[in-house]
Amino acid sequence: MTKNLRPRGADSDCDDTLRMLQEELAQTNREVMALTIELETRLEQLRAAEERYRRLAENAPDIIYRVELPGGRCTFMNPRVEQVLGYAPGEFYADPGLLGRLPQPDDRAALEAALCGESAGGTILMRWQHRNGSAVWIEQDQTVVRGAGGAAAAVECIARDVTERKSLEEQLRQSQKMEAVGRLAGGVAHDFNNLLTVISGYGAQAISAIDPASELYGELREINSAADRAAGLTRQLLAFSRRQVLQPQAFDLNSVVGDMDRMVRRLLGENIELRTVLAQDESWIYADRGQLEQVILNLVINARDAMPKGGVLVLETAHAELGVSDSQRLVLSAPPGRYVTLAVRDTGHGMDEATLTRIFEPFFTTKPKGQGTGLGLSMVYGIVKQSDGALGVRSEPGKGTAFEVFLPPARQQGERSSETAGTAKQTKGSETILVVEDESGVRKLMSAALRKAGYSLLEASNGEEALAVAEGHAGAIHLVISDVVMPGIGGAELAKRLAALRPELKMLFTSGYSETGLANLTGPETPFLQKPFTPATLAAKVREVLDRS
Ligand SMILES: Nc1ncnc2c1ncn2[C@@H]1O[C@H](COP(=O)(O)OP(=O)(O)OP(=O)(O)O)[C@@H](O)[C@H]1O
Ligand SMILES: [Mg+2]
Repeated sequence: MTKNLRPRGADSDCDDTLRMLQEELAQTNREVMALTIELETRLEQLRAAEERYRRLAENAPDIIYRVELPGGRCTFMNPRVEQVLGYAPGEFYADPGLLGRLPQPDDRAALEAALCGESAGGTILMRWQHRNGSAVWIEQDQTVVRGAGGAAAAVECIARDVTERKSLEEQLRQSQKMEAVGRLAGGVAHDFNNLLTVISGYGAQAISAIDPASELYGELREINSAADRAAGLTRQLLAFSRRQVLQPQAFDLNSVVGDMDRMVRRLLGENIELRTVLAQDESWIYADRGQLEQVILNLVINARDAMPKGGVLVLETAHAELGVSDSQRLVLSAPPGRYVTLAVRDTGHGMDEATLTRIFEPFFTTKPKGQGTGLGLSMVYGIVKQSDGALGVRSEPGKGTAFEVFLPPARQQGERSSETAGTAKQTKGSETILVVEDESGVRKLMSAALRKAGYSLLEASNGEEALAVAEGHAGAIHLVISDVVMPGIGGAELAKRLAALRPELKMLFTSGYSETGLANLTGPETPFLQKPFTPATLAAKVREVLDRS
């Protein structure tokens, strides 16, 4: 261009050059203008994209943050952090050490490693501390951002609050543990019940045959009362393992609590005040009344033990609606719906968190040796669960304890009318009875007791044998007493086949525990006798079943 500007002398030449120059300038101007416009559009797009990402990061349900390397200075933190941890983003920029102090001491090393760019790509699980002191479970993913030379320049992190998930996992783990312990306890209790039936059965017979003045008499009574205590223990184990047979009926919870009032007052002694608050409306529930009394007694005794220097115990019945979200605060949840509730509240010493997580475990007790078996609450748990109810507990050291039991209401009038009458006093008879029991000790005891009461006896040690006896026996068989759990043909199957053979026959089931399948068998109408039983209760039950129309 400088060459063209050099004057050549002619005016016209100059004009031409000038014109060319002007045109070139105009062209360049146009190009610059177009470029500027494009640049501005690009910039606008960039700004919009930035805005989009910023909004995404700021509204994300997770904490998103970035630290620069080396040094680990926080240069970005989204506002979500304030909701999860109680700190504003600005506090992280102002205080470079804040991030490092968030995890609980055990988890600090893991976060430090991640923020140095060491644990690239991995997910880490940590407990962080909220400004208010509470623990927050955090699951964090991070990416290392590399600079030009490949060196780590920054770490970008996404940290998620997983506290709720962790608490559900913990609940599940706890309930699986309870289930496993329950199965074990149930199995042991079942075998024990057979043995106890024999011990206390023969014990009772021996006592009735012996002269009360003899020395042996007292010793035999000791054996029997020990067997009774052992039976009580296995009953508690069965209740916890939910393998006992419940005999549900409809009744008014208010009337049970009202009836127990006097006994509870006696239990509590003088320095504990009892306040009973009963629901205004009827509070009919469908459950095993005896078991429910056990639940109330256990809770009341625990409350009493928590108030050695006195206090107030409130027993309250009410009606409540359980929603889906309630399951979070309950130890044992139940489907949403209406429930009748029983609350037992005390002003005792309360419990810390560590105790509270273990109280329903069998044999967990904080009481001195010999004063608590640790079975009370496990039994409560088992009975409520088997009754399709729910259970909640709140407690704080020094601030007392509140247990709340939710029980399904009796559904219809039909259930309500099923309240059973008292048992018959009559125990003798002359009918023919077939006893089916695989434990020979128990079978012999039953036969001996029933023969003594006047009956004719047939025996079988399993289902197959029982069918053969029923087919081969020429005379009438009025009643079959059968164990529910037997190898081969079980009690339920045997009942079906016998009904086909001899439709007029009556059945009475016995068992040390309930299993799946027994539940449908033992409605309130199905005659059932829980092991261990004594010869006297057996004879009374047999007469009652035979006399049913
Ligand atoms: N109302 C309460 N206040 C304070 N602590 C309680 C209360 N109820 C239960 N606990 C705690 O829970 C533990 C377990 O209770 P649980 O009823 O299962 O067994 P226990 O009372 O120790 O023994 P058991 O009932 O078999 O005689 C108790 O030892 C006690 O530490
Ligand atoms: Mg107890």
